[in-house]
Amino acid sequence: MHGQYAAVASQAVLAAGALQKERYGQDVAVEHKGEIDLVTEVDRACERVILELLRSRFPDHDVVTEETDLARRGSRFVWYVDPLDGTTNFAHGYPFFCASVALTRDGELLAGAIFDPIKQELFSTERGAGAHLNGRRLEVSSASELLNSMLVTGFPYDLRSDVQNKLRLFNRFIGEARAIRRDGAAALDLCYLAAGRIDGFWEENLHLWDILAGTLLIQEAGGRVTRFDGAPLGLRADEVLATNGRLHEPMMAIIRSEPAVAGVAEQVDARDLKS
Ligand code: IPD
Ligand code: CA
Ligand code: CA
Repeated sequence: MHGQYAAVASQAVLAAGALQKERYGQDVAVEHKGEIDLVTEVDRACERVILELLRSRFPDHDVVTEETDLARRGSRFVWYVDPLDGTTNFAHGYPFFCASVALTRDGELLAGAIFDPIKQELFSTERGAGAHLNGRRLEVSSASELLNSMLVTGFPYDLRSDVQNKLRLFNRFIGEARAIRRDGAAALDLCYLAAGRIDGFWEENLHLWDILAGTLLIQEAGGRVTRFDGAPLGLRADEVLATNGRLHEPMMAIIRSEPAVAGVAEQVDARDLKS
C-alpha cells in the first residue's frame, strides 16, 4: 500500500496541470461565484479529470471538491480536491497556480500532491515518508527571526466587507519581517514553505481543499501548521498559521497582540449610536 496514495494524488494533479498548461493564456469562459470570486471552464475540466481518476481507483472513497457538492458515503477515506488553486491568477495570465489533492483517513492526513504546471514542479508527500519536490527531499528553512524572514499571506474573496480588519496582521507583519509576498494560490504558498523558499504563512477563511496537501508537505518537511493560537488545525481552515517551526512562537506573539476587531458594519453602527 505504501506510496500508492501519494502516487495517485500525483497522477491526479499532473493530469489537471496538463490541462491548465494547455489552456493557459487562451480565452477561457469565466463565471462569477461572487463579486471577485471566479471559476473558469478550466477549473471544471480539471475537476472532471481528477474525479474520474479517483473514482476509478478508489470507488468507495469519499471526495470533497471545490466546484461540485458531492454526496458523502461515510467512507473512512476522504479526498480533498482543489482542481485549480489560483484561479484569479490563471484568468489574468499570471503564472502562479496549481492543482492540489489530499487524502485523509478518519480525519488524519495520509497523503497529498500539488503540481505547478508552469514551473513543472510536483510536490508530493505521504505520512511518514517525507515531502518531495520532483523526487528531491524537502526541508523547511532555518530562519529564526522575523527580521530575516520572508512571509506570505492571502486574503479572502469577501475582503471588501471588512478591509481594515483583514489587513490588521498584514500591517503588523510588514513592519516586522524582511519581506511579505501575496501570490494568490494558498496551496502553492504552502509548498514554498515546505521547500524552504519562504519561512512563514498566515491566512484566514481558507478551505480544506486549499490547505490539506500543503499542510502534510510542511509537517513532513519539518515545519508546523496550526490555528493562530497554536492549537491543532483539525479539519478546519478558518485560520492557518504555518511556519518552519522556529518562527511559530514569534508569529503567534504578533497575532495575539492584534486580535480581530469588530467588523466594519458594527463600527458604523456604534458611531451612529453616538451621534
Ligand atoms: C484562493 C487562493 C488564494 C487565497 C484564497 C483562495 P482559488 O483559491 O488560494 O491564494 O487567498 O482565499 O480561495 O479560489 O483560487 O481556488
Ligand atoms: Ca483554492
Ligand atoms: Ca480552486
